[in-house]
Parts: sequence; C-alpha cells; structure tokens
Amino acid sequence: MSVAYAAPAGPEDLPQIASIISQAFAGGTSEQTIEWATGQRLDDFRVLRRADRIEACLLLIPMGTFLGGQSVPTEGIAGVGVLPECRGRGRASLLMRQTILELAERGVAVSSLYSAWQPLYRSVGFEQAGLRMEYTISMRALRLRREFDRAGSDLEVRRADDADVPAIRGAYRSGAAGQNGWLDRGDYIWGRIPAHRGETRQCFVVVDAGRIAGYVYLAQRRNSTGMHDIFIADWMAHGLESWCALLRFVRGYASMGDKLIWYGGATHPAMLVLDEQRSIEGELSHWWMLRVVDAGAALRARGYSLGATGEVHLRIADPLIAPKERRLVLRVNDGRGVVEPGGRGDVEVGVAALAPLLTGFVSAQSLAALGQIRGASADVGVLGGLFAAETPATPDFF
Ligand SMILES: CC(C)(COP(=O)(O)OP(=O)(O)OC[C@H]1O[C@@H](n2cnc3c(N)ncnc32)[C@H](O)[C@@H]1OP(=O)(O)O)[C@@H](O)C(=O)NCCC(=O)NCCS
Repeated sequence: MSVAYAAPAGPEDLPQIASIISQAFAGGTSEQTIEWATGQRLDDFRVLRRADRIEACLLLIPMGTFLGGQSVPTEGIAGVGVLPECRGRGRASLLMRQTILELAERGVAVSSLYSAWQPLYRSVGFEQAGLRMEYTISMRALRLRREFDRAGSDLEVRRADDADVPAIRGAYRSGAAGQNGWLDRGDYIWGRIPAHRGETRQCFVVVDAGRIAGYVYLAQRRNSTGMHDIFIADWMAHGLESWCALLRFVRGYASMGDKLIWYGGATHPAMLVLDEQRSIEGELSHWWMLRVVDAGAALRARGYSLGATGEVHLRIADPLIAPKERRLVLRVNDGRGVVEPGGRGDVEVGVAALAPLLTGFVSAQSLAALGQIRGASADVGVLGGLFAAETPATPDFF
C-alpha cells in the first residue's frame, strides 16, 4: 500500500496529528497538543498517510525573513514528527522532499527551520544560515551606562491593552526590518508571544509623544532559589531614550529578580546601553537552517547594501527541484537585485551553499575555500561584497 502526501482531510485528522506531535516532542499531554493543533490552520499541516493511518506530519508557518532590510517570503517548518513505529524507513525524508517540491510549485522563495537532526534536512537542501543567542544578566547588574542615567526618564511606561496590539506589531516590524535574519512574523509566531505553554506574559509599552516607541512582553518565573527569573518573551524599542526607559522599567523587577533572560543575535542594543559587558552571558541557543526554494525569487526579494554594486553569472545546482541546473544573472544596484534567467554561469554553487550566502551567515570566500562555490576569485570577491551582512539571527524560535 502506498504512502500519500497531503494536507489533512479534515479536523477528524487532528487527534492523529496531535498524537504524533506529543510522542515526538514530549511537550505536553495529548489534550494540550490537540488544543495546540486545533489552534493552527488545518491547511498548514502536511501529513503522510497510509490507508487510514497518519504516519508523519509537519506544520508550515507562512512568514517572511528580513534580509538586507527586505522581507523575503518564507515558509517556516515545525513539528516534523514520525510515529515511533514508522521511523527509520524514510518517512521524514519523503515528507520533507514532497513539502519542498510543493513549495517550489507555489513559488515560495525560501523555507527555514530549527533542526534536531541536520542530516535529514541537509539531504533535501537545507543548510545552517543563522543563529539565535540566549542572553542572561543578573538583575542586580542591570545598570545603564552612567552617561545614559537620565536618558528616556521622562518617557511613560504603561501596561498595554488590546488596542495597542497593532502599534506593538508595527514597532516590532519596523525595528526587525533593520536586523538581518529577524522574522517578518505571521500569526503563528505572534501567537506564541503573549502566552506559551501555559505561561502568560505581561505587556508594557513605552510612550513617546503619544506614540508607542517600545514594548516588552515579560514573565516572572520562580526559580530554585525562590527568586524570579525575568523572562523577556519579546521586546523592541526605537532609539536610545526608549531602550533606556525600557531597561529602567525592567530594572524595577530587581528586588525579587534573580536573572534577566532574553534572546537575540550576535549583538543586541542592550549591550550598547548597559554599563558592563562582563555582566552579560551570551550563549548560542540554536542555529537555524534555510533552504533556497526559488533562487530567483529569493535573490530578487532580499535587500543589498546601498553601496553594493555588481553583476554575477550564477550556475545553481539543485538535486531536488527541476531543472537540476539553473543559470541566473544577478545585477545589484542601489540596494536592489535584478535577476534574469540565463547568463554565462561563471560561478557554480550548490543550492545548499546558497542558503548561508543568501543570509550572509558564511561569506562567499569561506564557501569557496570549502569548495562549496567554484569560480574565478574576482567573481567570488563580488559575491562576497554583495552578500556581506550583519550575522543573521532571530530571537524567535518555532
Ligand atoms: C527525526 C525523525 C523525524 C526522523 O524520522 P524518520 O522517518 O525516522 O527519518 P528517515 O527514515 O526519513 O531518515 C532520515 C535520515 O536520517 C537518518 N536517521 C533518522 N533517524 C536516525 C537516528 N535515530 N540515528 C541515525 N540516523 C538517523 C536516516 O538514516 C536518514 O538518513 P539517510 O537518508 O542518509 O539514510 C523522527 O525520528 C522523529 O519523529 N523524531 C522525534 C521528533 C524530531 O526530532 N523531529 C525533528 C525536529 S526538527
């Protein structure tokens, strides 16, 4: 009997999907997982079905990824799971292959995911393309630089209400666009911020001249010492004054607060505003992987530095998506890329190596040194200049 790839037939499939997810991730009771699955759009699940039994599933997460200041259409993937009794028989590989082929047919630019098993995702063209850092600082060490002592002290910080949500999302989006690799969040990512796995987060906003200039979603987590860790589920501020106002507000939790925890990239505005870097511990939380699905769409959608100009003739090898070799000419001018099919194919790159190149995670020169890009050093140099970027990162997990 053959295995069929499809979206769920209807809500009657949700208990089977929830059962696979709860066995795969051991993240909660099956009731909680059914509640989680019911909260997703049914059409965003993909399953492998053999007769009446669902043997594997995943969830698609429509969103964008900010690269070079522009949002690149992205289909995130989460919840890849196979029934324990069906593992080791190529189910996950088949599910991933079919999903990538479907995304290619739909013209999606890129797909991204957090991996628990890199060989699986590498086998269908994903590669490491960015990171997520976890930062911790003792609440008692949370001090602004002396010269910023008064900065933002006249700004109001108040509890947010439902009417603030559009402005909060706007503040996130305009800040995130300037951060290489941050997500252009859709409903799935936003849905995890105010509450997640039974934890409700409080939200406060910084108001500057009647406008929301920053916000924080936080939770107080009682730890083993009986004190609270202050967990930042999300925060963003525009400008030095707003960051200072936000950090001063968070400092108000210091009496019972043990540690402050937040996520970000290789650097974070808080590093420039707080007075002593030695108090901050930064740890790699995860790498994330990306798959270039439609190279032309991805190269066209991302932004480039305003000063960057150049032309490269690419030959992209993709073992999964036809045609298996694609020639493109990329011309960059004034921060935008124009892509045309054809060209001389001077530079050869596999679709997997294109992922860290596209995001700026690995330079063209480093990829060439590993034989992942082949071409004249002048062309590799042009690629290096076009894709140079701040280390791609995102505070979000999915
Ligand atoms: C990870 C998981 C999805 C793999 O499913 P699967 O159907 O067994 O995977 P496949 O049979 O398609 O194997 C995919 C590749 O990974 C390898 N692989 C899978 N599980 C492996 C294991 N436990 N040890 C070693 N290799 C393994 C396979 O050999 C295969 O590589 P190959 O094509 O070179 O032979 C499944 O084990 C699972 O549901 N785990 C729990 C949830 C999870 O970790 N999900 C991934 C989150 S990102």
